[in-house]
Amino acid sequence: MPDYQTLLVEKRGRVTLITLNRPQALNALNAQVLDDLLAALAVFDADEGQGCAVLTGSDKAFAAGADIKEMADMGFAAMYGTNHFAGWERFTQTRKPVIAAVAGYALGGGCEVAMMCDFILAADTAKFGQPEIKLGVSPGMGGSQRLTRAVGKAKAMEMVLTGRMMDAAEAERAGLVSRVIPAADLVDEAVKVATAIAAMPPLAVLANKEMVNAAFETNLTQGVQFERRLFNGLFATQDQKEGMAAFVEKRPGNWTGK
Ligand code: CAA
Repeated sequence: MPDYQTLLVEKRGRVTLITLNRPQALNALNAQVLDDLLAALAVFDADEGQGCAVLTGSDKAFAAGADIKEMADMGFAAMYGTNHFAGWERFTQTRKPVIAAVAGYALGGGCEVAMMCDFILAADTAKFGQPEIKLGVSPGMGGSQRLTRAVGKAKAMEMVLTGRMMDAAEAERAGLVSRVIPAADLVDEAVKVATAIAAMPPLAVLANKEMVNAAFETNLTQGVQFERRLFNGLFATQDQKEGMAAFVEKRPGNWTGK
C-alpha cells in the first residue's frame, strides 16, 4: 500500500478504512490531503478485493475545512486560474461506495467532503457547518449545492448565511446524516455497515449507487428511465441469476461480480 503523508489507510476485510491524519490542523484539507485522498480512492476503486470504503477523521474533527493558511494569500487569479478546488470533483467519481464516519467538527470543506461521500454516519459529537461567510468567502467545494439538496433551502440558507453549526441530532432530523451513533462505536459501526455493503453483488452495488446519484442530476422521468435501464442491465449479470436462484433455494448467494 502506498505511503500517504496525511492519511492512515488500512484494509479491514473487504473494507478500506481511510483516516484523515493532520491532527495539528484539525484535518484541514490542503493540497496534500487532496492528492493523498485521490490516490487512496483510486487504489480502493481498482482493488477487486475491496467493496466499500469508510472515510473518517479524529474524535475532535472529521475536518475543520479547507486549509485557511494555504488559501489566505491567494488572489483571484490563483484561485480561478488554477481552478483550485476542482480536483475535489474527482473524489465524487469514485465508483464504489464511500461512507463518511463523522465525529467532531465537519466544517466548510470538511462538511463538503462528508457530503461528497455516499452517506454520512455521525457520532453524537458531530458538528456540521458552512462557516466560510465568516472568512469573507462562501462554500467552494459544492456545499451550497449539496447542503441545499440534503436539507432544503431554509436550513441551508440559514446555515451558510449565519455560519452556525448543526449538531448530530439536528443533522439527522434534517436528513443530512443517515444515523447517529455513540462516538465510541462510530468507526466499528461504520466498518460493519461497509462490510455488509462489500458483501453485496459488486455490479449491483455500482448500479444502485449510480441510480441514487442520478436523482440529483435529472428530472423524475429521466431518473426513472435511468434506473430502469440499469435495472434491466443487471439481468445480464451472472449475479442476478445467482441471487434469484439462491433466494429460491433458500441459501446465501455466492457472488462472482460478473
Ligand atoms: N485551516 C487551517 N488550519 C486550521 C483550520 C483550517 N480550516 N481549522 C483549524 N486549524 C488549525 C488552527 O489554526 C490551530 O492551529 P495552531 O495550533 O497552529 O494555531 C489548530 O488547527 C487547532 O485549532 P483551534 O486552536 O482553532 O481549535 P479550537 O478547538 O479552539 O477550535 C474550530 C476548533 C472551531 C474548528 C476552529 O479551529 C475553527 O473555527 N476552524 C476553522 C473552521 C472554518 O472556518 N472552516 C472553513 C474553512 S474555509 C473552507 O472550507 C472553504 C471551502 O468551502 C472550500
